[in-house]
Order: sequence, then structure tokens, then C-alpha cells
Amino acid sequence: MAVSDANLPIGVFDSGMGGLTVLAALRQHMPTEDFIYLGDTARLPYGTKSAATVGRYAVQAANVLVQRGVKALVVACNTASATALDLLAKEFAPLPVFGVVDPGAAAACAVTDASGVAVLATESTIAGGAYQRALLAQQPALRVLGRPCPLWVTLAEQANFASPLTNAILLDGVAGLVKTAGTPDAPSVLLLGCTHFPIFTAQLKQLLGEGVRVIDSALTTAAMVAAAMQAQNLVADHGGKAVFMATDGVQRFQTVGAVFMGEAIPDVELIDL
Ligand code: DGL
Repeated sequence: MAVSDANLPIGVFDSGMGGLTVLAALRQHMPTEDFIYLGDTARLPYGTKSAATVGRYAVQAANVLVQRGVKALVVACNTASATALDLLAKEFAPLPVFGVVDPGAAAACAVTDASGVAVLATESTIAGGAYQRALLAQQPALRVLGRPCPLWVTLAEQANFASPLTNAILLDGVAGLVKTAGTPDAPSVLLLGCTHFPIFTAQLKQLLGEGVRVIDSALTTAAMVAAAMQAQNLVADHGGKAVFMATDGVQRFQTVGAVFMGEAIPDVELIDL
């Protein structure tokens, strides 16, 4: 890739707004980079769909970003990372393509103890076993428990936080899966294997107390992408802008997305895939 390409934006996509948690970490880590974010809000959720459909959707979403001119792709969706990362890397080679599953596994392995890691993700991510494989590749003797939690995606997209019902659904999702007074031998690390779930981190910490570490892939993904940009001489020397696209509900994306991003989203372009 030519040196001038270093100032191209980095393309980021997710099935919806969840990937904005990853974009926020990327922007924090790489303040001179420009980003283009695409949320495929019209076709969310990906997590209940077949691998073939997710693969097709992921290629279409990535294609829009590639057509606009990007120097790298970040698949900020665990479901798409788990099922379509190799496909995307092949389809868009030699463009660097990064997923969030290996960074998430690395984040969990960095803090785990003998009790192991509990992974919460979408149906498809859990059924496909991508996190289990990524965790065991890094720590072969690790105890790994996994559970699908599709309801949390809906809760997150609704920005439905501090309500007794949300607390009850969050607690139901982790019941028996992580260390509590009733399950002292369960894992003390809860890995949020879906980019929508970090929106609940503070709430989960409060509900679960200090005995459970709540981990996600955003920061380790950002560190991994930043290191790769350095290694490939692709660090931008100016920039810092982010532009946003969604396939439906741009107004909702703007208001609810701001909660995921932790900052205002000025404008969202409606696109079709
Ligand atoms: N963003 C997706 C993920 O990280 C979850 C939402 C969905 O099911 O599309 O797996």
C-alpha cells in the first residue's frame, strides 16, 4: 500500500450500534485517525442468523466501506468476526481486516484465574464456538463456559438501562454462570462477547460486585489495530474525524448511538446495502 494511503480512514462496521463501543475505544487510542462507521441497523440482529447470511451481510457492509476508500477494516461485531473474518480477509485482501474475538479472548486471558472465563454472546457466536476456540488457543487448560444472551442485544438497542426489568434480565443472563455467593466455584471473569453488551458494564459491576471482573474486547482491539497500523506504516499524521452511516433509523442511531459512543453523533447518512 502506498504511503499516502496512511491518511485514509479506517472502516468499522457492526450489525447496529453496539460496535460504537469499539469505535469509541479506537478513537481514544488513535486520535489522529479518521473513521467511517457503518451500522447495519436494517438487518440487526445478526446473532440469530445463519453463518451464510451473516457472511453475505458482512461482505456487503465491508464492500461499502471499501468503496469509500479505507486503509483497514475493523469488524466491530462479534457475530461477524466469529463467522466471517476469514471470508472478509480473503475477499478484501490485501486490506488489513481485524476482528474482535481474538482481542476479547486476550483481554480475558490477561486477568483470568483458575476459576475460568464465562462468555456471554449471541446465539450464533456461542453455537459456533469461536470464543471457546480463541480462549483455549491462548490458554489450553482454561475452563470456559458460554451462554447465548440474545435478549441483551434488544435491551441495548433500546437503550433500556436502569430499570428493575433490565436488572432482572441481566441477572438472569449470568445466573449460575459467574462467581456469586450461591456459585462460589463459577468463573470470576465475565467476558462480554458481543459488542452491544459493554453498555451494561457499569450496571453489571454493580449487580455482581467485586468478585467478578467484567471484560470486553474494545480496548484490546484498539491496541491491536493501533499496533498493526504502526507496524505497517499506516499511522495517519492528521485527522480525528468520524463519519457515520446506517441502513435504517438514522435519527434513532444518532440519539441512542450517542449513548454507546459517549459523545454526540453529529450526522448519520442513510445507505442501502
Ligand atoms: N453486534 C453483534 C455482536 O457483537 C450483536 C448484535 C446482533 O445480534 O446483531 O455479536
